[in-house]
Amino acid sequence: MAAVPSSRTADWWRDAAIYQVYPRSFADGDGDGTGDLAGVRTRLPYLAELGVDAVWFTPWYLSPLVDGGYDVADYRTIDPAFGTLEEAEKLISEAADLGIRVIIDIVPNHVSDQHAWFQAALAAGPGSPERELFHFRPGRGEHGELPPNDWPSQFAGTTWTRVPDGEWYLHLFTPEQPDLNWAHPAVRREHEDVLRFWFERGVAGVRIDSAALPAKHPQLPDFVEGVDPHPYIDQDELHDIYRSWRALADEYGGVFVGEVWLPDAERFARYLRPDELHTAFNFNFLACPWDAGRLRRTIDDTLAEHAPVGAPATWVLCNHDVTRTVTRYGRADTAFDFATKAFGTPTDPALGTRRARAAALLTLALPGSVYLYQGEELGLPEAEIPLTRIQDPMHFRSGGIDPGRDGCRVPLPWTADAPAYGFGPAGEPWLPQPDDWARYAVDRQSARPDSMLSLYRTALRLRRSVAGFGDGPMSWLPAADGVLAFTRPHGLICVVNLADRPAELPAHGQLLLSSGPLDADGRLPSDTAVWLRA
Ligand code: NOJ
Repeated sequence: MAAVPSSRTADWWRDAAIYQVYPRSFADGDGDGTGDLAGVRTRLPYLAELGVDAVWFTPWYLSPLVDGGYDVADYRTIDPAFGTLEEAEKLISEAADLGIRVIIDIVPNHVSDQHAWFQAALAAGPGSPERELFHFRPGRGEHGELPPNDWPSQFAGTTWTRVPDGEWYLHLFTPEQPDLNWAHPAVRREHEDVLRFWFERGVAGVRIDSAALPAKHPQLPDFVEGVDPHPYIDQDELHDIYRSWRALADEYGGVFVGEVWLPDAERFARYLRPDELHTAFNFNFLACPWDAGRLRRTIDDTLAEHAPVGAPATWVLCNHDVTRTVTRYGRADTAFDFATKAFGTPTDPALGTRRARAAALLTLALPGSVYLYQGEELGLPEAEIPLTRIQDPMHFRSGGIDPGRDGCRVPLPWTADAPAYGFGPAGEPWLPQPDDWARYAVDRQSARPDSMLSLYRTALRLRRSVAGFGDGPMSWLPAADGVLAFTRPHGLICVVNLADRPAELPAHGQLLLSSGPLDADGRLPSDTAVWLRA
């Protein structure tokens, strides 16, 4: 089936379908067991056929890969494990030829401890201008043996590490990811240069990692939960930074998507004012259990918080940090648990798959843009990684309580009967693939009209070719308990049945697509969704 070309308008981002590539696990071109840009380039036709408008690459820069590339040693160099800058440029232009835009990932909060700035800061010693680019402080206690403050890490454990000369440095994530000092003008200048560097190479957008974290309270005070304003989340100075980034992006027609996890809707929306970020991830939807009432409230709240600033919502069901959708939706408690990912909780893959199919139609019918994480279109479940093969620092820093995020980062299966399911020409993949993954392989799913891949291909094609999807209004229709039904422009209707009994469908609707078969009476079974045209 030929893909419908994407629209090429300036505000493409308001309703784009964006595919997230985790380069290490997408496709391995050189056979060393690690995915790379050569692998991505050979698979661009797959992405075009799938029908996505843009691809977001998680970091591909020079990195010791302590945190999967979110520890950047040099923003202007591609990590040799992934390829070269020249290949990245070719990839950007080949993708553009297929109508696919490229979004890169920038990590302003921290760099790798191997970054030249941090190495220089270590060498230069206390009181040096090099140390001012980071947060170096003397310790507390009689001999400076205690950390300078009590901030908890985003990854469990301490946020401070002591260097041999006695000073401590701040890292909200691992010790290999020292936090930059955003009060320093050189830090701002450098990031603006990096943005220009990539916009000049043709990237269409930038995802901003941990976008609410880079600015810190200047005194780095202790934090008393529930009493003090937070000393490092959502500081007001960030808005000034993002305003200047926006002015810069506007010169190139580039767009931003911020990774902003904030419980307060009003504070969240401030990042989306017209002169700041274009979009931000909406994680409340991802974290919402499979429950009609809760989903409806989350959708309403999301649209209500975006409306005053005129920004489109984004919808995300999964990414490289969370348990895969099929596994999550197959559990009795389907809410996402960031702390432990409900490790060991039994899951029913058939139920999870049915719900994930219905959730795909729900998500793709909502107003705004949609993110798909590689393998979501294949219905991959979370993989269990043997303890000896786990790589994610989150696992080690939690003292082994958190299984970490490797289970959603396993190399993709492309060909059922090839070694490593066709992930690469040879070689053992950097994370083991489960023994029963042949059935998820792209070649097998392509041949089956009822596969998850076929559902996504059809849904994305309809989303592009049928008027009414994407940006624009939606209104709820009256529906039975546990059923979500809403209209979009041009008579489009989406109905999702989350109840445990079949639901009647509106009369006279023309069926465009359904996530599973209707019952013998033409009713919509549990955990099934349809698109209709009135
Ligand atoms: C969010 C990223 O998505 C995650 O993978 C990473 O570990 C942290 N930010 C730190 O950069």
